Amino acid sequence: MNNIRKIADDVLYVGASDRRLALFENIYPIERGVSYNSYVVLDDKTVLLDTADHSVSREFLENVEAALSGRTLDYLVVNHMEPDHCSVIAEIVLRYPDVKIVGNAKTIQMIRQFYTFDVDSHAHIVKDGDTLTTGKHTFAFVFAPMVHWPEVMVTFDTSNGFLFSADAFGTFGALSGNLYADEVDFEGEWLDDARRYYINIVGKYGVQVMNTLKKAATLPIKMILPLHGPIWRENISWFISKYQTWASYQCEEKGALIVYSSIYGNTANAVDVLSSRIADKGIRNIHTYDASKTDVSVLVSECFRYSTIVFASPTYNAEIFPKMEMLLIELKAHAFQNRDVAVIENGSWALSAGKKMSELLSSMKDIRIISPVLSIKSSLKEEQLGEVDAMAAAIAESVNN
Ligand SMILES: Cc1cc2nc3c(=O)[nH]c(=O)nc-3n(C[C@H](O)[C@H](O)[C@H](O)COP(=O)(O)O)c2cc1C
Ligand SMILES: [Fe+2]
Ligand SMILES: [Fe+2]
Repeated sequence: MNNIRKIADDVLYVGASDRRLALFENIYPIERGVSYNSYVVLDDKTVLLDTADHSVSREFLENVEAALSGRTLDYLVVNHMEPDHCSVIAEIVLRYPDVKIVGNAKTIQMIRQFYTFDVDSHAHIVKDGDTLTTGKHTFAFVFAPMVHWPEVMVTFDTSNGFLFSADAFGTFGALSGNLYADEVDFEGEWLDDARRYYINIVGKYGVQVMNTLKKAATLPIKMILPLHGPIWRENISWFISKYQTWASYQCEEKGALIVYSSIYGNTANAVDVLSSRIADKGIRNIHTYDASKTDVSVLVSECFRYSTIVFASPTYNAEIFPKMEMLLIELKAHAFQNRDVAVIENGSWALSAGKKMSELLSSMKDIRIISPVLSIKSSLKEEQLGEVDAMAAAIAESVNN
């Protein structure tokens, strides 16, 4: 049974959700699932904006057929050639052999790379700023390179102000009937996943995202229709301002984040003592995570969220404990920058985790180490409480300023 949804008289939702997939991109846990959004515009000519992942292809194809209700498909706009959105292109071409595929030169080249059908006979190549009129609707194509992949573009329907934004403004999380962000508790139930999605998928490309936001600011946007998660028709500026914060590497909240690794519990004890001291200084926004327990995608996202971060790790075979090392490597890979940090190391014979963590952090842009490394020899001792207190004071000052 098809499950098409009406967004406007002539705009239909034809996407679908997957709640079985454990790891998005085979790396990010998605306990709440994910939706693959796709849209049909019915005009003198018919238009499909992006396809879907193969996991939902059956429902997706049924939806497209129902949305077209007997008409053929004239245009398929490919805003993004990543397989979570383009898996069904070849099937669409088989079903609608006269379809024109609208994409830029890079998109068309990627379609040739992924598929073996005769791409050139279907290609309708557009340049940045080009438009396509299909009757009442005129679509403007705005390139958004690296707002996930180099070929990415967003499509603005000038007739109704709908921005088909590709991966931008998307989020993990399957849809449950409600299509719009204003129909769900977005801040309470979705924002953490939206942040984790943004930071992990495009966090590295803040400069490119800012460029796209600047271009978008000139458009009279009425609705944002992303390829994942709910559609935005209210409070759009609130979500755009979140993107501005994330893309410019500003912290979202003044607060202390403590991430630690611990084999036997002694480093865990030290950070608990530290967090109590931070709390005693009046700080209320303190969050502690064990890097072995929490997925690194959550930790990366939380590091982007807070102003002040403590990294604590035992020395492990003369290295940083692997789970902590992975977090630091991932932060660097996501262009993590502009934060106040402190480092705690532990070790029983030759401590080197602190130096290695500091080096890794110092290789990132605008990372300010606000306190001397606290070195613990196996377990925290009474005589080190002065050092702990000094670190807590530096953290409290960072959070308060
Ligand atoms: C496999 C393994 C390798 C370790 N390698 C080192 C090391 O190279 N240098 C060192 O000083 N301690 C090393 N340690 C000891 C721990 O860093 C040390 O016992 C620390 O106090 C553990 O802190 P925890 O109680 O928070 O787990 C190693 C421990 C393990 C299990
Ligand atoms: Fe993507
Ligand atoms: Fe995507």
